[in-house]
Amino acid sequence: MAERVTERIPMDHLSRAASLLSAGKLVAFPTETVYGLGADAFNSAAVADIFVAKGRPSDNPLIVHIGAVEQLRTVASRIPEVAAPLLEHFWPGPLTIVVPKAPWITAAVTGGLETVAVRLPNHPVAIELLQRADTPIVAPSANRSGRPSATTWQSVAEDLDGRIDAIVMGGPTRIGLESTVLDLTQSVPCILRQGAVTQESICQVLGSSYAVTLATDSATLKRSPGTRHRHYQPLARVELIPAADTARYIEQQRHGMPSSARIAWIGWNAVDLPSGLCASERCASIEAYAARVYEFFRDMDHLDVSLIVCEPPPEEGLGRALNDRLRRASSR
Ligand code: TXA
Ligand code: MG
Repeated sequence: MAERVTERIPMDHLSRAASLLSAGKLVAFPTETVYGLGADAFNSAAVADIFVAKGRPSDNPLIVHIGAVEQLRTVASRIPEVAAPLLEHFWPGPLTIVVPKAPWITAAVTGGLETVAVRLPNHPVAIELLQRADTPIVAPSANRSGRPSATTWQSVAEDLDGRIDAIVMGGPTRIGLESTVLDLTQSVPCILRQGAVTQESICQVLGSSYAVTLATDSATLKRSPGTRHRHYQPLARVELIPAADTARYIEQQRHGMPSSARIAWIGWNAVDLPSGLCASERCASIEAYAARVYEFFRDMDHLDVSLIVCEPPPEEGLGRALNDRLRRASSR
C-alpha cells in the first residue's frame, strides 16, 4: 500500500474534510458510537481503498451513512413499512437498518449482498460533514481490521496513520460501541448486531404488531458477514470472569505466568482485587463501561499487559451489546 500523509482536520474545518471526501479520499470522523472511516459510496476506487487501509476482508459489507432521512431513498430500492416508526423514533441515532439496495449501490459496498445497511448518525460533526459531502458515505469503524474500534481520534491515528488521508479531530465518542444492525428485509425484523438501541426498545416502538428476533443461529449470522470475522481484540488475552470468582481466578492465572507478566481488570462492581495488578478500572455504570472498554484495551496494549480480566455486565439493555463485544474480544 502506498504511504499517505494523514492530515489532521480541526472540527471547525469540515469544508476541508468534505472536499477530500468528494475527491475520493479517505477521511475518519467521529460519530456518537465510534469513529468511522469515510469514503464516497459512489466512488468505487475510494470504496476499494477502505478495504486496503483497514485490511478488511472484502466479503464484509459497509454501512452507508447519510446526513438526512430523505437520502434513504437514494440508497434503498424499497423501504419496508416497518421502517417508518423506527426511523421516526431512533434516527438520527445508533440504529443501522438493512434494506433492499438501490441498483447503483455496488457489490463492493454490500459484499455482494442484495441488501444495504444504512445509518443516520446522531453527532453534529458527522451530520454536518455528511450534509456538506452531499453524497452517501460508507464508513466502517476506523480501526485496523480485528482491533478494537477507535473511540478517540488518537486511536484512529494509532491504527491508520499513513494509510488514510485525514482525521477529523473530534472528542471521544459518547456511546463507545458500534450501532445496532437491524435487518428489515425479512418478515420478522432481526437484530444482526446488538448496540445501544436495544431489542427491548425496538419492541416497545413496534408494539405488538411485530416480533423482533435476535440473530443467533448460523444461518442468520450469514446475513451479517461481519459477525463471522475476528473482532475487537487487543494484543492481551481477554477473559470474562464474574465478580465473585475474580480474586481466585487471577491468583490461579499468576501461577502459570512469568512473574513479570502484567494483569489488568475492568468492571463496574466493587470487586475484591488481589494486589499487584498493573491496572484496574471500576466504571461508574454500564454506559461508562461501554464507552471506556475499547480505549482501556488499547491502553493495556501500551502497558504490555498480557491478561485483561473483564467483569461480564448483566444481560439486559446496553449490557447485552457490551457482553457481545467482550465475548468476541475474548475468543481466540
Ligand atoms: O456504529 C457504527 O455502526 C460504526 C460507525 C462508524 O457508524 N460503523 C461500523 O461499521 O461499525 P463496521 O463496518 O465496523 O460494521 C458494519 C457491520 C458489520 O457487522 C457488517 O457485516 C454489517 O454491519 N453489515 C453491513 N452491511 C450489511 C448488510 N447489507 N447486511 C447485513 N449486515 C451488514
Ligand atoms: Mg468494525
